[in-house]
Amino acid sequence: MKILSVVGARPNFMKVAPLHRAFLARGLDSCIVHTGQHYDTRMSKVFFEQLELPVPDHYLGLGGGSHTQQTARIMLKFEEVLQQENPDMVLVVGDVNSTIACALVAVKMHYPVAHVEAGLRSGDRRMPEEINRILTDRISDYLFVTEHSGLVHLAREGVPEEKIFFTGNVMIDSLVYYRQKAAKTGILQEHRLEPGEYVLMTMHRPSNVDHMEGLQAIMEIVRRTARHKRVVFPMHPRTRNNLERFGLYTAFRQMDNLLLTEPLGYLEFLQLMQNAFAVITDSGGIQEETTFLKVPCFTFRESTERPITVELGTNMLLPDLNPDSVAEAFEALLQGKAKEGSIPPLWDGRAAERIAEILATESL
Ligand code: UD1
Repeated sequence: MKILSVVGARPNFMKVAPLHRAFLARGLDSCIVHTGQHYDTRMSKVFFEQLELPVPDHYLGLGGGSHTQQTARIMLKFEEVLQQENPDMVLVVGDVNSTIACALVAVKMHYPVAHVEAGLRSGDRRMPEEINRILTDRISDYLFVTEHSGLVHLAREGVPEEKIFFTGNVMIDSLVYYRQKAAKTGILQEHRLEPGEYVLMTMHRPSNVDHMEGLQAIMEIVRRTARHKRVVFPMHPRTRNNLERFGLYTAFRQMDNLLLTEPLGYLEFLQLMQNAFAVITDSGGIQEETTFLKVPCFTFRESTERPITVELGTNMLLPDLNPDSVAEAFEALLQGKAKEGSIPPLWDGRAAERIAEILATESL
Protein backbone atom coordinates (compact mmCIF):
# COMPACT_ATOMS: atom_id res chain seq x y z
CA MET A 1 0.00 0.00 0.00
CA LYS A 2 1.41 3.37 -1.01
CA ILE A 3 0.47 6.41 1.07
CA LEU A 4 1.32 9.81 -0.32
CA SER A 5 1.57 12.42 2.47
CA VAL A 6 1.48 16.14 1.82
CA VAL A 7 3.45 18.77 3.73
CA GLY A 8 3.49 22.46 2.93
CA ALA A 9 3.96 24.75 5.88
CA ARG A 10 5.94 24.66 9.10
CA PRO A 11 3.22 23.17 11.33
CA ASN A 12 2.90 20.18 8.97
CA PHE A 13 6.42 18.81 9.32
CA MET A 14 6.22 17.64 12.95
CA LYS A 15 2.88 15.96 12.18
CA VAL A 16 4.04 13.97 9.17
CA ALA A 17 7.37 12.88 10.71
CA PRO A 18 5.85 10.35 13.18
CA LEU A 19 3.36 9.17 10.54
CA HIS A 20 6.14 8.49 8.05
CA ARG A 21 8.00 6.48 10.70
CA ALA A 22 4.88 4.55 11.66
CA PHE A 23 4.04 3.74 8.02
CA LEU A 24 7.51 2.37 7.36
CA ALA A 25 7.38 0.32 10.57
CA ARG A 26 4.19 -1.33 9.29
CA GLY A 27 5.71 -2.05 5.91
CA LEU A 28 3.64 0.58 4.12
CA ASP A 29 5.16 2.54 1.28
CA SER A 30 5.43 6.18 2.37
CA CYS A 31 5.93 8.93 -0.19
CA ILE A 32 6.20 12.64 0.75
CA VAL A 33 5.26 15.66 -1.34
CA HIS A 34 6.35 19.14 -0.17
CA THR A 35 4.37 21.91 -1.83
CA GLY A 36 6.95 24.54 -0.83
CA GLN A 37 4.31 26.81 0.77
CA HIS A 38 7.05 27.50 3.32
CA TYR A 39 10.41 27.59 1.63
CA ASP A 40 12.99 29.38 3.79
CA THR A 41 15.67 27.22 5.36
CA ARG A 42 14.46 28.28 8.79
CA MET A 43 10.80 27.62 8.04
CA SER A 44 11.30 24.30 6.27
CA LYS A 45 14.70 22.68 5.63
CA VAL A 46 15.87 22.69 9.24
CA PHE A 47 12.67 20.83 10.19
CA PHE A 48 13.35 18.07 7.69
CA GLU A 49 16.83 17.64 9.14
CA GLN A 50 15.86 17.74 12.80
CA LEU A 51 12.77 15.56 12.42
CA GLU A 52 14.74 13.05 10.36
CA LEU A 53 12.37 13.31 7.43
CA PRO A 54 13.73 12.09 4.10
CA VAL A 55 14.24 14.51 1.23
CA PRO A 56 10.69 14.80 -0.19
CA ASP A 57 9.94 12.63 -3.21
CA HIS A 58 8.48 15.73 -4.84
CA TYR A 59 9.23 19.36 -4.06
CA LEU A 60 6.81 21.68 -5.83
CA GLY A 61 8.37 25.04 -4.86
CA LEU A 62 5.09 26.95 -4.73
CA GLY A 63 5.52 29.43 -1.86
CA GLY A 64 4.22 33.00 -1.74
CA GLY A 65 1.36 34.78 -3.49
CA SER A 66 -2.21 35.36 -2.43
CA HIS A 67 -4.28 32.53 -0.99
CA THR A 68 -5.98 31.99 -4.33
CA GLN A 69 -2.74 31.97 -6.29
CA GLN A 70 -1.06 29.68 -3.78
CA THR A 71 -3.95 27.21 -3.66
CA ALA A 72 -4.46 27.18 -7.43
CA ARG A 73 -0.78 26.70 -8.24
CA ILE A 74 -0.48 23.85 -5.75
CA MET A 75 -3.55 22.17 -7.29
CA LEU A 76 -2.15 22.30 -10.81
CA LYS A 77 1.19 20.78 -9.86
CA PHE A 78 -0.23 18.24 -7.45
CA GLU A 79 -2.43 16.82 -10.19
CA GLU A 80 0.72 15.94 -12.13
CA VAL A 81 2.28 14.33 -9.06
CA LEU A 82 -0.77 12.13 -8.53
CA GLN A 83 -0.78 11.04 -12.17
CA GLN A 84 2.83 10.04 -11.79
CA GLU A 85 2.69 8.38 -8.35
CA ASN A 86 -0.77 6.80 -8.45
CA PRO A 87 -0.86 6.11 -4.67
CA ASP A 88 -3.46 4.05 -2.78
CA MET A 89 -4.19 6.92 -0.44
CA VAL A 90 -3.47 10.64 -0.06
CA LEU A 91 -2.89 11.89 3.47
CA VAL A 92 -3.12 15.55 4.47
CA VAL A 93 -2.58 17.10 7.90
CA GLY A 94 -3.79 20.24 9.66
CA ASP A 95 -5.43 23.23 8.06
CA VAL A 96 -3.01 25.15 5.85
CA ASN A 97 -3.63 26.06 2.21
CA SER A 98 -1.63 23.04 1.01
CA THR A 99 -4.01 20.78 2.96
CA ILE A 100 -7.18 21.78 1.14
CA ALA A 101 -5.46 22.23 -2.23
CA CYS A 102 -4.13 18.66 -2.32
CA ALA A 103 -7.20 17.05 -0.73
CA LEU A 104 -9.40 18.65 -3.38
CA VAL A 105 -7.26 17.45 -6.27
CA ALA A 106 -7.05 13.94 -4.83
CA VAL A 107 -10.76 13.49 -4.23
CA LYS A 108 -11.59 14.65 -7.75
CA MET A 109 -9.19 12.08 -9.13
CA HIS A 110 -10.90 9.42 -6.98
CA TYR A 111 -8.10 8.80 -4.55
CA PRO A 112 -9.14 8.08 -0.95
CA VAL A 113 -8.16 10.98 1.32
CA ALA A 114 -7.14 10.76 4.97
CA HIS A 115 -7.22 13.95 7.05
CA VAL A 116 -5.16 13.99 10.22
CA GLU A 117 -6.32 16.58 12.80
CA ALA A 118 -9.90 16.53 11.59
CA GLY A 119 -12.95 18.08 13.23
CA LEU A 120 -11.32 21.14 14.79
CA ARG A 121 -13.46 24.27 14.49
CA SER A 122 -12.92 27.80 15.77
CA GLY A 123 -16.35 28.92 14.57
CA ASP A 124 -14.64 31.93 12.99
CA ARG A 125 -14.88 31.87 9.21
CA ARG A 126 -12.66 34.92 8.84
CA MET A 127 -9.74 32.66 9.68
CA PRO A 128 -8.41 31.17 6.45
CA GLU A 129 -7.63 27.94 8.32
CA GLU A 130 -11.28 27.50 9.34
CA ILE A 131 -12.37 27.35 5.71
CA ASN A 132 -9.58 24.88 4.99
CA ARG A 133 -10.68 22.68 7.91
CA ILE A 134 -14.37 22.60 7.00
CA LEU A 135 -13.76 21.82 3.34
CA THR A 136 -11.04 19.24 3.91
CA ASP A 137 -13.19 17.31 6.39
CA ARG A 138 -16.15 17.44 4.03
CA ILE A 139 -14.29 15.61 1.25
CA SER A 140 -12.08 13.23 3.26
CA ASP A 141 -12.70 9.50 3.64
CA TYR A 142 -10.76 8.94 6.86
CA LEU A 143 -10.97 11.56 9.57
CA PHE A 144 -8.46 11.24 12.39
CA VAL A 145 -9.43 13.30 15.41
CA THR A 146 -7.20 14.73 18.16
CA GLU A 147 -9.72 15.81 20.79
CA HIS A 148 -13.33 15.28 21.84
CA SER A 149 -14.65 18.52 20.29
CA GLY A 150 -13.65 17.16 16.87
CA LEU A 151 -16.01 14.21 17.31
CA VAL A 152 -18.85 16.56 18.25
CA HIS A 153 -18.32 18.84 15.25
CA LEU A 154 -18.09 16.04 12.72
CA ALA A 155 -21.23 14.38 14.08
CA ARG A 156 -23.06 17.70 13.96
CA GLU A 157 -21.97 18.20 10.35
CA GLY A 158 -23.37 14.81 9.42
CA VAL A 159 -20.12 12.94 8.75
CA PRO A 160 -20.84 9.19 8.89
CA GLU A 161 -19.47 7.60 12.05
CA GLU A 162 -17.51 4.93 10.21
CA LYS A 163 -15.23 7.58 8.70
CA ILE A 164 -14.24 9.04 12.07
CA PHE A 165 -11.40 7.75 14.27
CA PHE A 166 -10.31 9.21 17.59
CA THR A 167 -6.60 8.53 17.48
CA GLY A 168 -4.90 11.32 19.48
CA ASN A 169 -2.41 13.95 18.53
CA VAL A 170 0.50 13.27 16.15
CA MET A 171 2.14 16.60 16.99
CA ILE A 172 2.45 15.38 20.56
CA ASP A 173 4.04 12.19 19.16
CA SER A 174 6.89 14.35 17.86
CA LEU A 175 7.15 16.26 21.10
CA VAL A 176 7.42 13.05 23.14
CA TYR A 177 9.92 11.55 20.70
CA TYR A 178 12.22 14.60 20.55
CA ARG A 179 11.95 16.05 24.02
CA GLN A 180 15.19 14.60 25.34
CA LYS A 181 17.06 15.51 22.20
CA ALA A 182 15.75 19.07 22.46
CA ALA A 183 17.21 19.35 25.97
CA LYS A 184 20.68 18.84 24.46
CA THR A 185 20.53 21.76 22.01
CA GLY A 186 22.29 24.37 24.15
CA ILE A 187 19.89 27.14 23.09
CA LEU A 188 19.46 28.30 26.71
CA GLN A 189 23.21 28.57 27.29
CA GLU A 190 23.73 30.24 23.93
CA HIS A 191 21.43 33.09 24.95
CA ARG A 192 22.22 32.93 28.69
CA LEU A 193 18.65 32.04 29.59
CA GLU A 194 17.73 30.47 32.91
CA PRO A 195 14.86 27.94 33.06
CA GLY A 196 11.68 29.61 34.29
CA GLU A 197 13.16 33.09 33.93
CA TYR A 198 11.92 34.11 30.48
CA VAL A 199 8.68 34.33 28.54
CA LEU A 200 8.55 32.84 25.06
CA MET A 201 6.46 34.74 22.56
CA THR A 202 5.30 34.17 18.98
CA MET A 203 2.79 36.11 16.89
CA HIS A 204 2.02 35.66 13.21
CA ARG A 205 -1.74 35.45 12.66
CA PRO A 206 -2.93 37.85 9.92
CA SER A 207 -5.68 39.22 12.20
CA ASN A 208 -2.99 40.31 14.70
CA VAL A 209 0.00 41.28 12.58
CA ASP A 210 -1.32 42.57 9.25
CA HIS A 211 -2.27 46.02 10.57
CA MET A 212 -0.63 48.89 12.42
CA GLU A 213 -2.82 48.75 15.57
CA GLY A 214 -2.12 45.05 16.04
CA LEU A 215 1.62 45.53 15.73
CA GLN A 216 1.58 48.44 18.15
CA ALA A 217 -0.40 46.40 20.65
CA ILE A 218 2.09 43.55 20.33
CA MET A 219 4.92 46.00 21.06
CA GLU A 220 3.14 47.18 24.16
CA ILE A 221 2.60 43.59 25.30
CA VAL A 222 6.32 42.89 24.89
CA ARG A 223 7.21 46.09 26.74
CA ARG A 224 4.97 45.29 29.71
CA THR A 225 5.96 41.63 29.92
CA ALA A 226 9.65 42.49 29.70
CA ARG A 227 9.34 44.49 32.93
CA HIS A 228 8.96 41.17 34.75
CA LYS A 229 10.84 38.61 32.64
CA ARG A 230 13.07 38.55 29.61
CA VAL A 231 11.00 38.09 26.46
CA VAL A 232 12.27 35.69 23.79
CA PHE A 233 10.56 36.31 20.45
CA PRO A 234 11.45 34.12 17.45
CA MET A 235 9.84 36.07 14.65
CA HIS A 236 7.77 34.64 11.81
CA PRO A 237 8.55 36.15 8.36
CA ARG A 238 5.01 37.51 8.05
CA THR A 239 5.38 39.50 11.29
CA ARG A 240 8.81 40.76 10.40
CA ASN A 241 7.71 41.82 6.90
CA ASN A 242 4.78 43.71 8.37
CA LEU A 243 6.86 45.45 11.03
CA GLU A 244 9.19 46.62 8.28
CA ARG A 245 6.31 47.67 6.04
CA PHE A 246 4.83 49.85 8.81
CA GLY A 247 8.23 51.26 9.80
CA LEU A 248 8.18 49.70 13.28
CA TYR A 249 10.92 47.09 13.01
CA THR A 250 13.84 49.17 14.34
CA ALA A 251 11.89 50.39 17.36
CA PHE A 252 10.66 46.86 18.01
CA ARG A 253 14.14 45.40 17.92
CA GLN A 254 15.46 47.96 20.39
CA MET A 255 12.98 47.29 23.18
CA ASP A 256 14.50 46.54 26.58
CA ASN A 257 14.89 42.99 27.86
CA LEU A 258 13.82 41.51 24.52
CA LEU A 259 15.66 38.77 22.65
CA LEU A 260 14.47 38.87 19.06
CA THR A 261 15.53 35.91 16.92
CA GLU A 262 14.95 34.44 13.48
CA PRO A 263 12.46 31.55 13.31
CA LEU A 264 14.03 28.69 15.27
CA GLY A 265 14.45 25.00 14.54
CA TYR A 266 12.03 22.45 15.99
CA LEU A 267 14.40 21.25 18.72
CA GLU A 268 15.51 24.71 19.82
CA PHE A 269 11.94 25.94 20.01
CA LEU A 270 10.84 22.87 21.96
CA GLN A 271 13.66 23.38 24.44
CA LEU A 272 12.67 27.03 24.89
CA MET A 273 9.03 26.03 25.35
CA GLN A 274 9.65 23.36 27.95
CA ASN A 275 11.71 25.73 30.11
CA ALA A 276 9.65 28.90 29.73
CA PHE A 277 7.96 30.66 32.64
CA ALA A 278 5.03 31.21 30.30
CA VAL A 279 4.27 31.40 26.60
CA ILE A 280 2.40 34.19 24.80
CA THR A 281 1.20 33.25 21.32
CA ASP A 282 -1.49 33.28 18.66
CA SER A 283 -0.44 29.95 17.16
CA GLY A 284 -2.62 26.86 16.86
CA GLY A 285 -0.13 24.12 17.68
CA ILE A 286 1.68 25.89 20.51
CA GLN A 287 -1.55 25.85 22.53
CA GLU A 288 -1.38 22.05 22.41
CA GLU A 289 2.34 21.70 23.03
CA THR A 290 2.22 23.94 26.13
CA THR A 291 -0.77 21.99 27.43
CA PHE A 292 1.21 18.78 27.16
CA LEU A 293 4.23 20.41 28.80
CA LYS A 294 2.03 22.06 31.47
CA VAL A 295 3.52 25.47 30.74
CA PRO A 296 1.11 28.42 31.14
CA CYS A 297 0.02 29.72 27.75
CA PHE A 298 -1.75 32.99 26.89
CA THR A 299 -3.29 32.91 23.45
CA PHE A 300 -4.26 36.15 21.74
CA ARG A 301 -7.26 34.88 19.80
CA GLU A 302 -11.01 35.42 19.85
CA SER A 303 -11.62 31.69 19.73
CA THR A 304 -9.72 28.45 19.64
CA GLU A 305 -10.31 25.40 17.48
CA ARG A 306 -8.50 23.45 20.22
CA PRO A 307 -10.84 23.98 23.22
CA ILE A 308 -9.43 21.01 25.14
CA THR A 309 -6.32 23.14 25.80
CA VAL A 310 -8.51 25.58 27.71
CA GLU A 311 -10.80 22.99 29.32
CA LEU A 312 -8.10 20.59 30.50
CA GLY A 313 -4.84 22.28 29.70
CA THR A 314 -2.88 25.36 30.69
CA ASN A 315 -4.14 27.57 27.88
CA MET A 316 -6.01 30.82 28.44
CA LEU A 317 -7.61 32.86 25.66
CA LEU A 318 -7.18 36.61 25.66
CA PRO A 319 -9.79 37.80 23.19
CA ASP A 320 -8.43 41.14 22.04
CA LEU A 321 -4.90 42.39 21.74
CA ASN A 322 -5.23 44.33 24.95
CA PRO A 323 -1.93 44.74 26.80
CA ASP A 324 -3.86 45.12 30.07
CA SER A 325 -5.29 41.62 29.82
CA VAL A 326 -1.91 39.94 29.62
CA ALA A 327 -0.52 42.17 32.35
CA GLU A 328 -3.35 41.05 34.64
CA ALA A 329 -2.99 37.38 33.78
CA PHE A 330 0.74 37.71 34.25
CA GLU A 331 0.33 39.27 37.66
CA ALA A 332 -1.67 36.23 38.79
CA LEU A 333 1.06 33.92 37.51
CA LEU A 334 3.75 35.82 39.37
CA GLN A 335 1.72 35.35 42.55
CA GLY A 336 1.86 31.62 41.96
CA LYS A 337 -1.73 31.25 40.74
CA ALA A 338 -0.98 29.12 37.68
CA LYS A 339 -3.61 26.87 36.17
CA GLU A 340 -2.80 23.25 37.06
CA GLY A 341 -3.78 21.52 33.81
CA SER A 342 -3.91 17.87 32.76
CA ILE A 343 -2.96 16.05 29.57
CA PRO A 344 -5.86 15.31 27.18
CA PRO A 345 -6.84 11.71 26.40
CA LEU A 346 -4.65 9.86 23.86
CA TRP A 347 -1.98 12.56 23.77
CA ASP A 348 0.53 9.86 24.60
CA GLY A 349 3.03 9.75 21.77
CA ARG A 350 1.32 6.87 19.93
CA ALA A 351 -1.25 8.53 17.68
CA ALA A 352 0.69 7.86 14.48
CA GLU A 353 0.91 4.14 15.32
CA ARG A 354 -2.86 4.03 15.74
CA ILE A 355 -3.39 5.76 12.41
CA ALA A 356 -0.95 3.43 10.65
CA GLU A 357 -2.72 0.43 12.10
CA ILE A 358 -6.12 1.62 10.88
CA LEU A 359 -4.85 2.41 7.38
CA ALA A 360 -2.94 -0.87 7.13
CA THR A 361 -6.04 -2.83 8.14
CA GLU A 362 -8.13 -0.98 5.57
CA SER A 363 -5.77 -2.01 2.82
CA LEU A 364 -6.15 -5.74 3.52
C1 UD1 B 1 0.65 29.56 7.33
C2 UD1 B 1 -0.68 28.88 7.66
C3 UD1 B 1 -0.97 29.01 9.14
C4 UD1 B 1 0.19 28.50 9.97
C5 UD1 B 1 1.46 29.23 9.55
C6 UD1 B 1 2.66 28.73 10.34
C7 UD1 B 1 -2.35 28.99 5.82
C8 UD1 B 1 -3.62 29.62 5.41
N1 UD1 B 1 -1.79 29.51 6.94
O1 UD1 B 1 0.50 30.96 7.56
O2 UD1 B 1 -2.10 28.24 9.45
O3 UD1 B 1 -0.06 28.75 11.35
O4 UD1 B 1 1.66 29.01 8.15
O5 UD1 B 1 3.82 29.36 9.97
O6 UD1 B 1 -1.89 28.08 5.17
N2 UD1 B 1 7.21 33.55 4.20
C9 UD1 B 1 8.57 33.58 4.05
N3 UD1 B 1 9.25 32.40 4.09
C10 UD1 B 1 8.62 31.21 4.24
C11 UD1 B 1 7.23 31.20 4.37
C12 UD1 B 1 6.53 32.37 4.36
O7 UD1 B 1 9.18 34.61 3.90
O8 UD1 B 1 9.31 30.17 4.27
C13 UD1 B 1 6.49 34.84 4.18
C14 UD1 B 1 6.04 35.22 2.79
O9 UD1 B 1 6.14 36.59 2.67
C15 UD1 B 1 4.59 34.81 2.79
C16 UD1 B 1 4.18 35.09 4.22
O10 UD1 B 1 5.35 34.77 4.99
O11 UD1 B 1 3.83 35.52 1.86
C17 UD1 B 1 3.03 34.29 4.69
O12 UD1 B 1 3.23 32.89 4.40
P1 UD1 B 1 1.97 31.93 4.11
O13 UD1 B 1 2.42 30.56 3.87
O14 UD1 B 1 1.11 32.58 3.09
O15 UD1 B 1 1.11 32.00 5.43
P2 UD1 B 1 1.54 32.02 6.96
O16 UD1 B 1 1.18 33.35 7.51
O17 UD1 B 1 2.94 31.53 7.18
